[in-house]
Amino acid sequence: MAVEVKGASVKPGRRRFENKSVVVTGAASGIGRADALAFAGEGAAVAVLDIAEGPGQETVELLRKDSADAVFLRCDVTDEASIEQSLGAVVDRFGALDVLVANTGVLYVDTAEKTALEDWNRMLALNLTSAFLCSKHAIPRMRKSGGGSIVCMSSGSGFRPRAGIAAYAAAKAGIINFVKSLAKETAADGIRANCVAPIATETPLLEHMLTRFSEGKDRAEVERHIIESIPMKRFATVEEIADAVLFLASDDSSAISGHCLVVDCGAFA
Ligand SMILES: NC(=O)c1ccc[n+]([C@@H]2O[C@H](COP(=O)([O-])OP(=O)(O)OC[C@H]3O[C@@H](n4cnc5c(N)ncnc54)[C@H](O)[C@@H]3O)[C@@H](O)[C@H]2O)c1
Repeated sequence: MAVEVKGASVKPGRRRFENKSVVVTGAASGIGRADALAFAGEGAAVAVLDIAEGPGQETVELLRKDSADAVFLRCDVTDEASIEQSLGAVVDRFGALDVLVANTGVLYVDTAEKTALEDWNRMLALNLTSAFLCSKHAIPRMRKSGGGSIVCMSSGSGFRPRAGIAAYAAAKAGIINFVKSLAKETAADGIRANCVAPIATETPLLEHMLTRFSEGKDRAEVERHIIESIPMKRFATVEEIADAVLFLASDDSSAISGHCLVVDCGAFA
């Protein structure tokens, strides 16, 4: 399974985000990095927000290699002050905030019975409260420029969780209802809010899940069993998830708000 997205590059094509300012949280890795590259490929100025400085700067280098306007901002999405400061810096730098992708998420593998309260709270902070805080501070900035689009990351686990990821699944289910509330609260300001719910996608997060699920078992067998349960017999790629994120962020989905777009390789059919 390939988890490396370092070699990915900006894809030329449509220019739906020309003159748009886009924030992607968790853009130092996986889906967030692919989102950042895809937005830049369509003309956006991109702010890469992440706690991981080295890999975040690497994303920015990839973006700049293709002449995109991009900046890295170290931001801890569990820290409200850090979020507010970063979004302020984005507006100072790019002049506006048009799109927020609240992408950050971390997987914690354990049953509810074995989950310490501290871990439960951390999972909610990273996977759910982070989207609330980023949205909360993005909304007034988007309103100022006449509207915008918020895309949060849910997960197939938000609908149909596997056993052993209770806290993560609860947080991801929360995202689905959070964007519905947000959609109703912000429609009058020209702001849309949606989420994407991917199934297993080739990133370090999936690698971590497979490693934990394989403890005491044959890793290849565990992976084969999961793939067998997916009608397309494969995981999704980060580029396929980015396609869904960009659709919801763009005017192509101008009448869609409060929606959860499932990208499931047929798994929930
Ligand atoms: N990969 C999958 O199979 C899958 C499936 C469904 C949903 N998702 C969701 O997609 C999103 C992206 O996941 P991914 O697979 O690309 O993960 P990833 O592990 O590749 O990337 C997560 C990023 O979040 C950053 N991060 C962690 N803690 C942070 C913090 N406190 N502040 C700021 N940044 C922080 C990490 O440094 C990393 O760059 C997540 O919300 C995840 O839950 C992933």
